[in-house]
Amino acid sequence: MYFLALLSNVLFAVIAFDDDKVEFTPQQIALILEHSPLPEVPPDPTNRVYESEAAARLGQALFFDRRLSGNGEISCATCHEPQKSWTDGKKMASAVSNLSRNSMTLWNVAYNRWFFWDGRKDTLWSQALGPLEDSREHAGSRLQYAHLMVDDPDYRRAYAEVFGELPDLSSSVRFPRNGRPMPGQADHPHALNWTSMTFADRDTVNGIFANIGKAIAAFERKLISRSSPFDAFVEGLREGDSRKLQAISPAAQRGLALFVGKGRCFLCHTGPNFTDREFHNDRIPGTEGEGILDPGRFRGVEQVRADEFNGIGRYSDQTSGDAHAKVAFLIRNSHSLGEFKTPTLRNAALTAPYMHNGEFATLADVIRFYSKLEGALPMHKGAERLLIPIHLTAKEEQDLVSFLESLTDDRLAPELLKPPVKPYLEK
Ligand code: HEC
Ligand code: HEC
Repeated sequence: MYFLALLSNVLFAVIAFDDDKVEFTPQQIALILEHSPLPEVPPDPTNRVYESEAAARLGQALFFDRRLSGNGEISCATCHEPQKSWTDGKKMASAVSNLSRNSMTLWNVAYNRWFFWDGRKDTLWSQALGPLEDSREHAGSRLQYAHLMVDDPDYRRAYAEVFGELPDLSSSVRFPRNGRPMPGQADHPHALNWTSMTFADRDTVNGIFANIGKAIAAFERKLISRSSPFDAFVEGLREGDSRKLQAISPAAQRGLALFVGKGRCFLCHTGPNFTDREFHNDRIPGTEGEGILDPGRFRGVEQVRADEFNGIGRYSDQTSGDAHAKVAFLIRNSHSLGEFKTPTLRNAALTAPYMHNGEFATLADVIRFYSKLEGALPMHKGAERLLIPIHLTAKEEQDLVSFLESLTDDRLAPELLKPPVKPYLEK
């Protein structure tokens, strides 16, 4: 009898928990409301064409164009495939050769403050210039791309409509077909071509190169995810609408309670894009095995300050205000060794594998790591102190995964998923 009573009690508790709606504390509700809705994309005064439809159209054409590469085979979409939620599904990226980091999704990228895992770029437009010249990625040169703009009649027209007429690059003595600065490789043909040019001609080519980045950025601003089941749920919470409150399952609701509670996730994945836009050292395992520790933000700070295309440089359209504050007061600090940017969690269910080095194959693996911090790199002075084992039960781990899955909304106008017919707006 006693045993039966006990058993039925246990059963009752489990069933009641599964069926009952999840209760949130007022403090949890306040935190939840901070995560939705996603506001409009913030302006980017460093890019004067950020809002231009014509620039976005040109940028979309450039994004998908494999001619923007040294071997004619690589485009941005090689690693940021629209069908793979703007990433490549690989542990670490590879194109001409292998990279040591995971390709980042482009969902909601225009909300970011810093770009790349290590934040070595401070504007979206200057980010695009990195892969275009990286010898492992597009492996082309700014002179090659400037010539493509001039030589292709469609690009020539599109460029003129956004930025004004292209200059005359026809003198092969003044403007070789290929060339770019190559620090540390002064004998490389690209470097020799580049240094043979006058400063004024280099400036001309740099201006076209920066504009290529600005057009691509105008396109990337359209990759927005803001209407997930979670957002409907928050609307329900705000309006007291019980139908909308059913937009996410009880399991996802329990996961949400963990996210803003015991799981401590909201400490870093905060605000409507689920990121504090800052850097942390989560002691992610993996890189150690290869004998090299990725310095992360430590090197990123140095690179963004030295970048000729940063927000306070000659090619930025507004060097004061936030652009100035971001870079001018940036200090390189040994604590930032091994720190990486907090990524958005919107559409995370579609962007496996995870972390800067693609260490975890599934969301369940990520949650298991946060739960026990098993295999975490040793604690050291830069390691994130906010990160402590949260000791989740197996059921809680599943609930958190269910919650992360409720952040999915990958609907986008189908015409954004492929190259446009023409790089200019047809009138
Ligand atoms: C070889 C694969 C590859 C190619 C080609 C590539 N990317 Fe990436 N992308 C990556 C990887 C890997 C990262 C992260 C690299 C890092 O942090 O060092 C990244 C990061 C980014 C980011 C930063 C996102 C964020 O939240 O900070 C943006 C934006 C981006 N890429 C856009 C582009 C554009 C635009 C192009 C084309 C001009 C491009 N990528 C070409 C692999 C690639
Ligand atoms: C101390 C800040 C911090 C806390 C707390 C935190 N995260 Fe993260 N999260 C990060 C950072 C930083 C990364 C990237 C780490 C890296 O790649 O080295 C990350 C990566 C992730 C990723 C991988 C996303 C991707 O695109 O690769 C997921 C999923 C994630 N976190 C979910 C969670 C959940 C769920 C919790 C709560 C259990 C949590 N995080 C707690 C900072 C944090």
